[in-house]
Amino acid sequence: MVMRTLIKHVLQSATPQQSVTVKGWVRTRRDAKGFSFLELNDGSCLANLQVVVDAGTPGAEHLPQLTTGASAAVEGKQVASPAAGQKWELHATRIELVGPADSTYPLQKKGHTAEFLRTIAHLRPRSNLYGAVFRVRSKLAFAVHQFFQERDFVYVHTPIITASDCEGAGEMFRVTALKGNIDEKPQADFFGKPTYLTVSGQLEGETFACALSNVYTFGPTFRAENSNTARHAAEFWMIEPEMAFCDLQGDMDLAEEFIKGMAKYAVENCQEDLALFSKFVDKGLQERLQFVVERPFIRVPYTEAIEILGKSGRKFEFPVEYGLNLQSEHERFLTEEHFKSPVTVFNYPREIKPFYMRLNEDGKTVTAMDVLVPGIGEVIGGAQREERLDQLVENMKMHKLKPEDYWWYMDLRRYGTVPHAGFGLGFERLLMFLTGVSNIRDVVPFARTPGNAEF
Ligand code: 4AD
Ligand code: MG
Repeated sequence: MVMRTLIKHVLQSATPQQSVTVKGWVRTRRDAKGFSFLELNDGSCLANLQVVVDAGTPGAEHLPQLTTGASAAVEGKQVASPAAGQKWELHATRIELVGPADSTYPLQKKGHTAEFLRTIAHLRPRSNLYGAVFRVRSKLAFAVHQFFQERDFVYVHTPIITASDCEGAGEMFRVTALKGNIDEKPQADFFGKPTYLTVSGQLEGETFACALSNVYTFGPTFRAENSNTARHAAEFWMIEPEMAFCDLQGDMDLAEEFIKGMAKYAVENCQEDLALFSKFVDKGLQERLQFVVERPFIRVPYTEAIEILGKSGRKFEFPVEYGLNLQSEHERFLTEEHFKSPVTVFNYPREIKPFYMRLNEDGKTVTAMDVLVPGIGEVIGGAQREERLDQLVENMKMHKLKPEDYWWYMDLRRYGTVPHAGFGLGFERLLMFLTGVSNIRDVVPFARTPGNAEF
């Protein structure tokens, strides 16, 4: 058999083809007297192609082996389907068993739990839900590039191995070529100093923004935080735009436009898969996406957010107090119950934010901003950066960092410093928001979480 046509193209075609070849995996087979029905799926779209195989068709002798999970190639004639919900079906003129699947194939027709499917992450993309999730993930990755390229942002590949802790949170994985005690002689290590997997491409992104004006990174980032939650992964992808000659206002504007753009792209380009999520995962999904596209987000200063939480009459697990970080439960109260909308919280106390954020006139808060969305909480964290050299040095000292370790970062403030700002969006959290899938482990092909690095 020669060139194959993707099932998606067969199902979308306006006119029937006399002869077409498709290849895929059998979802189900039903045998009737004198013929069989095969539901074939090749992952190009959610829908299966129904194939009718008459008993005498060449290759039909292999039908008993064409069980769920087996792979097959079918040549046939495309005809209008009498069945409801599908336009075309295929009447086989020749059928070939490509690879049988034995009876241990774990994805049988009945529904499986997300927990079980994580244990077979190598097979779960063959299920309807995960096929849909990973098609949407691919589309959205493309949409990210399109969004920034259309706005003249330059894509920068920032390093994955780094010696600096951008977030200053000490949640880094060590990279070493040494055996034994790696802390004994870091000078003898591969890079001559302790190195880590990056938690963010921001610091390097800033250097490129201070040359090319508007840039973005989109790559893997790593955090060794031992938090087993539904929204933390040890390896995740982050999108980080950085803009020269931009302040906090411009940063919040871009963040909002970006999330809206991604929601719009999903609605316009992933409808078949989104319909599946609304049916089985999150009934309110389509309505929420429409809301996100159409309505402006709420913006509140951190101080006001704390006041709202304090007056809410709610009993939270974690305390609400000026100077403390917002916990997931607080973020979700603000977006889901109080404002019922995505919310951008800005101007946080300087003590709870990293060294690179710009100190406000009040001397107490920094130009930080976090975008919170219903169901998830924080999807974006960003800031206007401290562009004044003296103040940056002061910030570093307050955060117990050694300025000499950041000599190249400080050079940006020495040579033609400019106000600049940017943010980081967690790609997986965005996907959770756009699909309604509630656990980060289910939007990553192979999740890396504490204790899990199988596959
Ligand atoms: O708020 P964060 O830590 O910000 C930064 O890293 C900045 N350097 C970004 C910048 O300004 N260029 O992380 C940004 C986003 C979070 O809002 C969240 O969506 C995601 O990254 N994120 C995670 N996603 C999954 N698992 C984790 N462990 C995550 N930690 C952060
Ligand atoms: Mg953050």
